[in-house]
Amino acid sequence: MAVERSFVMVKPDGVQRGLVGEIISRLERRGLKLVAARFMAVSRELAEKHYEVHRGKPFFEGLIRFITSGPVMAMVWEGPNAIEVIRSTMGTTNPVQAGPGTIRGDLAVDIGRNLVHGSDGPDTAEKEIALWFRPEDIVEYGRAADPWVV
Ligand code: PPS
Repeated sequence: MAVERSFVMVKPDGVQRGLVGEIISRLERRGLKLVAARFMAVSRELAEKHYEVHRGKPFFEGLIRFITSGPVMAMVWEGPNAIEVIRSTMGTTNPVQAGPGTIRGDLAVDIGRNLVHGSDGPDTAEKEIALWFRPEDIVEYGRAADPWVV
């Protein structure tokens, strides 16, 4: 199994609803390792760069307004197949279809307020991590539990 890194963001609705700890806890309990975190306001410039691929889509303006509306928890998580593991932990983009037991399936109902973002593939993960973090912000460390995760 390939050890991967993924960019994860608790969106403003997750912060406003007091779900930062819940979301971090679910990723920790799944067996992933937090290697960088930054609680921050998001500028329009950063939001537009992050969602550049969606520019022109009907939801783009609303999405940018939403992501810049309040602080987010930006993170990098690491683990075996982390990108896919995180996406299955989050559930489908539209919470209406997200299965029970997933973050969105348990805690959200609206596609425009779906609590959390996770990179959708290795190339995107690399780009997003480089956009939100400097290389020196990422902490390399071992954990006593790591041999049990793989
Ligand atoms: S697409 O068109 O299939 O590529 O879009 P999708 O992957 O479903 O979603 C891309 C991101 O836009 C968010 N999104 C929305 N935000 C607000 N309102 C609406 N209607 C909407 N539809 C999609 C969606 O949550 C994705 O953001 P992230 O941060 O990746 O979850």
